[in-house]
Amino acid sequence: MNISKQKGTKDIYSDDILIWQFIEENIRKIAKKFNVGEIRTPVFEATELYMRGVGDETDIVSKEMYTFLDKGDRSITLRPELTAGVVRSYIENGMNSLPQPLKLWYIGNMYRYEKMQKGRYREFAQFGTEIFGSASYLADAETILVSSTLLKEIGLSDDIVLSINSIGCSECRKKYIGILREYLKPRIDNMCDSCKVRYNKNILRIIDCKEEKCNHELKDAPYITDNLCDDCKEDFSNLQNVLTNLKVEYVIDKKIVRGLDYYNKTVYEYISKDLGIAVGGGGRYDGLVSTLGGPNTPAVGFALGMDRLVLLLKEKNILEKIKNNVDIYFALFGDTAHLIGNNLMQTLRNEKNIYVIDGDISNKSPKAQLKYASSKNAKFVCIIGQDEIDKNICIIKNMETGIQENINLNSENIIKYIDNN
Ligand code: HAM
Repeated sequence: MNISKQKGTKDIYSDDILIWQFIEENIRKIAKKFNVGEIRTPVFEATELYMRGVGDETDIVSKEMYTFLDKGDRSITLRPELTAGVVRSYIENGMNSLPQPLKLWYIGNMYRYEKMQKGRYREFAQFGTEIFGSASYLADAETILVSSTLLKEIGLSDDIVLSINSIGCSECRKKYIGILREYLKPRIDNMCDSCKVRYNKNILRIIDCKEEKCNHELKDAPYITDNLCDDCKEDFSNLQNVLTNLKVEYVIDKKIVRGLDYYNKTVYEYISKDLGIAVGGGGRYDGLVSTLGGPNTPAVGFALGMDRLVLLLKEKNILEKIKNNVDIYFALFGDTAHLIGNNLMQTLRNEKNIYVIDGDISNKSPKAQLKYASSKNAKFVCIIGQDEIDKNICIIKNMETGIQENINLNSENIIKYIDNN
């Protein structure tokens, strides 16, 4: 029996890989423009990192982690997200002694044992950015600017809504949780089983429950956004001013509380209008570095789900724009033609590396070579056989018009011909 890939995983190749590369190229370009440095951390970490970092009551940690004992009896987990890993690395490598704020970006695969649906996988990739050492709303705005610049560059701005909220500092949250608990006390029995558990363990998450009966009970619920202390209120208002000044469009969604425990103050999500799910999320997490044993360090960041961005771009027929079409294909017939052709291709690649150059490497028939060139959308085909060599020419065929011309068999002529056509 053949062995298949695991549920929730995928092979990425052919046209799909071009979309991934398109996004990745833009990520690198934007990270450089914003002076953000790359970080690469291990795919597996100690399970405790996520229990303490992400929170053992969260869905991610309590239900979705790939956790196992290694041969040395250590509890290991495949990373379900990267913020905790980056924070671990920040602390372990003493990065607080580097000039702050420290801006880091990453791209990598994450693992969550989730129910499969469109855009939801068990292995998926995230692009993220974390900024350490700034408590200012300006750093929150910078993370939003990096992510929204990427969405703009890849042509998805109009398809995605940025929703922001503030879940306050520990002080205003404590007060708010008391108010929310009072509000929910007479209603919780009518709510779903998950909300009943959350009532005691993670009450804030009740606010974003999608169940109809819970929505009904939450109709007049108080929101944390309306219960912020003066400092948090001012911070949130300052952030909005910066975003407005930067012409970054956003809406305030008081229901956003996020599914990971480390957040405080600003939280945000990018929601796809079409898929109705989040393509990204982030926020401030000022307590995480110290929770994990490091010095008190404010921090803020986001992650965008690469697979979901690819899904959206596929629906927008991006391929036509980004396909790596062949500029010139060398159709070669016979051993001497292959020797000459190989030399020409190398000279062209060295001299004019802006061209995409390909040629026969399997002695196919003339018909098969032209068919292959056409399947690669070649603009020109340079045909060389023994007849052409004897006359010291090559035939250049314009694949769009079908017009063929004989030109002298040397690289300068071929370059001149392509440049002029
Ligand atoms: P998150 O909201 O759990 O945040 O994930 C961020 C994004 O990863 C989601 O918006 C979604 O696009 C994508 N994603 C999550 N799960 C899946 C899945 N099963 N399949 C496909 N895509 C998925 C975090 O992970 C935080 N670490 C973000 C952050 C960084 N906060 C501060 N810094």
